[in-house]
Amino acid sequence: MESIFLSDTDYEQLASQTEDLIAKVDDLPYPKVKDDVQALLQNFDMLHREALTRLFKEIIINYPALHSKMENDKAVYLLFSLYDLFHSDIHNEILLSEDFGGNGDQYPRWIPVGNANELKENTAYKYAEEGEVVLICKTEGTVYAVKNCCGNTALPLDGAAIEKGYLICPWHGCAYRLSDGVMETNPMNKLKKYPLTIGDEGVIRLGLNM
Ligand code: FES
Repeated sequence: MESIFLSDTDYEQLASQTEDLIAKVDDLPYPKVKDDVQALLQNFDMLHREALTRLFKEIIINYPALHSKMENDKAVYLLFSLYDLFHSDIHNEILLSEDFGGNGDQYPRWIPVGNANELKENTAYKYAEEGEVVLICKTEGTVYAVKNCCGNTALPLDGAAIEKGYLICPWHGCAYRLSDGVMETNPMNKLKKYPLTIGDEGVIRLGLNM
């Protein structure tokens, strides 16, 4: 059975053909037809822009992980980009809008924090953003993000060694399993972990306020 989905190439060709057809509207020899077609295109644009902006807003607030997936899908990326929705100003505008309390700091977001391919094994990197101090750690090929704070103390974990999947506090040696944050000697004690995603090119995005 023939696929109902277009390939990325087909989709790009279709977008390019559409662009060419729209450009030809200016050359229409009949002014009334030209005005009507332009009004029609403007209405389509407004219908799509309004609905896609609402959808984008919903995704940023309630399904932030989907945001980075969408960026990696050619067709979705192209469509949302046509309406400037991946543009950072629009993104921040949505987060800072009065509808959402006017304070973007409290809302979920994905922040690029480096490239997984450039991180050394068994090394913790300190990263500070918006009052959060996070350690980005790589061990056994996996990247983790944890709070830079040992247990309930205010003592930072930067400078901690990583051994066999555990982050070892440099102060008194408590070991935290990076895969789930659990303290080796007291499973009730957990290190706060942050969600992260890694894109095709290795770009790490840290999830804040999730
Ligand atoms: S402060 Fe981390 S083990 Fe004591």
